[in-house]
Amino acid sequence: MPHCEHDIGTEELAHLEMVGSMVYQLTKGVPAKVLEKEGLGAYYTDHAHAVYPVSAAGNPFTAAYIQSKGDPLADLTEDLAAEQKARATYENLINLADDPDVLEPLKFLREREIVHFQRFGEVLRIVQDTLAEKKYYVQKPIYENNAAY
Ligand SMILES: [Fe+2]
Repeated sequence: MPHCEHDIGTEELAHLEMVGSMVYQLTKGVPAKVLEKEGLGAYYTDHAHAVYPVSAAGNPFTAAYIQSKGDPLADLTEDLAAEQKARATYENLINLADDPDVLEPLKFLREREIVHFQRFGEVLRIVQDTLAEKKYYVQKPIYENNAAY
């Protein structure tokens, strides 16, 4: 499979850094009482001003959010859905934001998710075309048929 997923995965980590930086800049120096008034009291209790990856509902990020089935069709379809969910989330955040310094990065991130969706779609088409070829052979690794392994 082309290494599209790895390149996009690296970019996603950079996006996480961008979002974390935005949260840090928006909350830096904000008094605890103000954070509590703005609905961030629970977050402040657990993390103070530290950046901690949680969903809007406060659920911590876990590896369970990353799907990997080992099947190109299943994995690419999952990737496509993940990109659309990310795009929709950025659009919801754009609807909530009014600060230009927040809106512009969010618009950039939304645009990147659209590009990711397009790239994964291209890879899915390549995989589907390859699978549809009349002469397609699969050679299982030797160790799968050898009890010594
Ligand atoms: Fe993405």
